[in-house]
Amino acid sequence: MIKNDLFLRALKGETVQRPPVWMMRQAGRYLPEFIALRDKYDFFTRCQTPELAAEITVQPIRRIAPDAAILFSDILVIPQAMGIDVEMKPNFGPYLPNPIRTIQDVENVIVPDVHETLGYVFDAIKLTKEMLNDEVPLIGFAGSPWTIMCYAVEGQGSKSFDKAKGFCFSHPEAAHVLLQKITDTTILYLKEKVKAGVNAVQIFDSWGGMLSPVDYQEFSWKYINQIVEALADDAPVIVFGKGCWFALGEMGKSRASALGVDWTCSPRNARYLSGGNITLQGNFDPSRLLSPIPVIKKMVHEMIDEFGKDKYIVNLGHGILPNIPVDHAKAFIDAVKEYNQ
Ligand code: CP3
Repeated sequence: MIKNDLFLRALKGETVQRPPVWMMRQAGRYLPEFIALRDKYDFFTRCQTPELAAEITVQPIRRIAPDAAILFSDILVIPQAMGIDVEMKPNFGPYLPNPIRTIQDVENVIVPDVHETLGYVFDAIKLTKEMLNDEVPLIGFAGSPWTIMCYAVEGQGSKSFDKAKGFCFSHPEAAHVLLQKITDTTILYLKEKVKAGVNAVQIFDSWGGMLSPVDYQEFSWKYINQIVEALADDAPVIVFGKGCWFALGEMGKSRASALGVDWTCSPRNARYLSGGNITLQGNFDPSRLLSPIPVIKKMVHEMIDEFGKDKYIVNLGHGILPNIPVDHAKAFIDAVKEYNQ
């Protein structure tokens, strides 16, 4: 039994004294103890060494005490396991030297044995669970197939991901073969993560908002929904689509347990669009953590009032930024704990 089960109860839609809180990208980026490890070990060494991944995962639990932990890893371990080279360049971000550009490239991509290629993630989960000692639940995650494809085709981050979109629109059949291979790998991967001990999973569709509502259905939601269907009996699934407010209606009818919302959609609108019944998660503007602490606290309380305390998980609308002072991050968490007291 998990001692602090607020997060799991909110995912079930149960009535709570106050909503649970965690922050996307809370493991890493802004914590000094993380930066010390980052300067010693390169990115994929940190991901692939269970002791390091577990340590980074619990750092924010010790320091700011959110109601859930998220495993330190990356969405790009999936394309890596599928045979696509992925590098993480300091001060640049992901770099894939041999991006997918042709039908032949798509054919060369494999659906791997996840035990062989990603066993280190499952080991990290087991170790993290020991370190957490059932204090708080552990979240596992994956990128959406569309978001993974964005990096696989583009070869790096982008403002518009026009190469990835261009590939979908000029070679739709090949694009669908690639998206299905990513989907199949992700389902195997997330099922093993649950077996290894994660208590819930989140799918990050960070670049879903690049697509029009019609293209979103065809190139993103169709595949996310396969993952939701495949996982729903194993663990609660949270779907976070950045810029995807237009798809909340469809998402709200799925077997997802909760939907992430970014800060461009008001709480009221998100409730309306998602059908009013499903748990929502979000949506504080990450830059707002640069406001003075009393302002952060006031705005967090207003946000909870607007979403309502039930069927709600407090979070940011996207990942925490690297330049956020730790005491501001802590004030965000504390504000939620002070609600209703
Ligand atoms: O939430 C957590 O704290 C768990 C750890 C986590 C990381 N990446 C660690 C990381 C999670 C959940 C991710 C997901 C991820 N990775 C996403 C989806 C979420 C989002 O922010 O939209 C995406 C798009 C990526 C791809 C990625 N990885 C990028 C674009 C970058 C470079 C820029 C940056 O800092 O985000 C990374 C590297 C990365 N992944 C870092 C961390 C802590 C920073 C680099 C480093 O530590 O050396």
